[in-house]
Amino acid sequence: MYVDQASKEQLQALLADLESQYAQLKAAKLGLDLTRGKPSSAQLDLSNSMDTVLQGNFKGSDGTDTRNYGGLDGLPEAKALFSQMLGVKPEETLIGGNASLTLMFQILNFAHNFGVRGAASAWNKEGRIKFLCPVPGYDRHFAICEELGIEMIPVKMDENGPDMDQVESLVKADKLIKGIWCVPRFSNPSGIVYSDAVVERIAGLGKIAGPNFRVMWDNAYCIHALQRGAPALANVMDLARKHGTEDSLFIFGSTSKITFAGAGLAFMGASVENLKHFKKHLGIVTIGPDKVNQLRHVKFFGDFNGLLAHMDKHAELLKPRFDAVISHLDSGIKNTDMGSWTVPQGGYFVSFDARPGLAKEIVKLADEVGVKLTPAGATFPYGKDPEDRNIRLAPSFPSLADINKAMEVFVLCVKLASVRQKLAA
Ligand SMILES: Cc1ncc(COP(=O)(O)O)c(C=O)c1O
Repeated sequence: MYVDQASKEQLQALLADLESQYAQLKAAKLGLDLTRGKPSSAQLDLSNSMDTVLQGNFKGSDGTDTRNYGGLDGLPEAKALFSQMLGVKPEETLIGGNASLTLMFQILNFAHNFGVRGAASAWNKEGRIKFLCPVPGYDRHFAICEELGIEMIPVKMDENGPDMDQVESLVKADKLIKGIWCVPRFSNPSGIVYSDAVVERIAGLGKIAGPNFRVMWDNAYCIHALQRGAPALANVMDLARKHGTEDSLFIFGSTSKITFAGAGLAFMGASVENLKHFKKHLGIVTIGPDKVNQLRHVKFFGDFNGLLAHMDKHAELLKPRFDAVISHLDSGIKNTDMGSWTVPQGGYFVSFDARPGLAKEIVKLADEVGVKLTPAGATFPYGKDPEDRNIRLAPSFPSLADINKAMEVFVLCVKLASVRQKLAA
């Protein structure tokens, strides 16, 4: 039903039906959770044999004893393997600890307080600097900016990525804009893949921005397709080389959603010059990363094809969960004016846009019947969705049965909130 075209009587009849369904669900006392994008235990099980792969042999290919200190930027074989995920050269790769989020924080902290090219280049010397934040986006990126006191400027996104006319005009006009967050393939939460033209324009930003501008290219889902043949992403480092802007990029990835979310590997791709400066700073923070885990990962995958074959197993577990979410939305809300959503071909999320003013209400309604959703607003800087529309759905962790139940509730809450809103107007 299109609520904007329905009569008052039709809406009242629908409301009575929805309210009785809602009351029944309340009585069922559900305890379901569609909040965070965590891998399910079955996904974690796919990597269990990593536990025994070393069989007491801790020597790296160059003879490094991985149990000891050292190797600040990682084992050569880990760099050789994961540079292929990042789309950079092995010498442009740094392998860190278990969380790319830590590397992202360290990079921004380094650029802000210590300077990407020495103390004089520290962003904080220029006053309150700013970052562009394509929305909807990832709440933990926004949290890093808040923690460092960096002002966030939301930028619109469409199915091709950030609105580059807006990005370029902002960056040209304001030299205090020092960077932009990007989740370029299977974006969090929309699942979109940046188009080639958008990637090319982002690669060129270093030419028009103020000094020490950096793109935070968080390619967390770069090989997380739900099936082979999903849209590819242009190689941003190659394009930056073409424009002579390699120094404007920091590229991130991890195996958090490939092996173990709490015990994976995080890595970063950057120009040799950027890495040289960052490593000086990193050497103060640590004597070296967990190289045993790096060796374990390399032995477990063998090579890049082994890594991709492993991702097929994740896709087998994830695809039915995404299909379930989409099928509930299709059968409950398609061909109505109560919401729209993305149909991602990879990543961990489905992004839902309700009628303006209803996201908070829908999340509250679902919570009251025992279905936890990501807080409304979380996908926007400062937790403020100006239209109160966007809700991020994360179907990776719950069982298929729980997703079906949770989505039944979600669809009902969307309808209930929409009809109530229309009747109150
Ligand atoms: C876009 C994005 N980047 C980074 C992360 C976290 O990555 P890591 O576990 O490597 O810190 C997530 C997790 O949800 C994410 O969605």
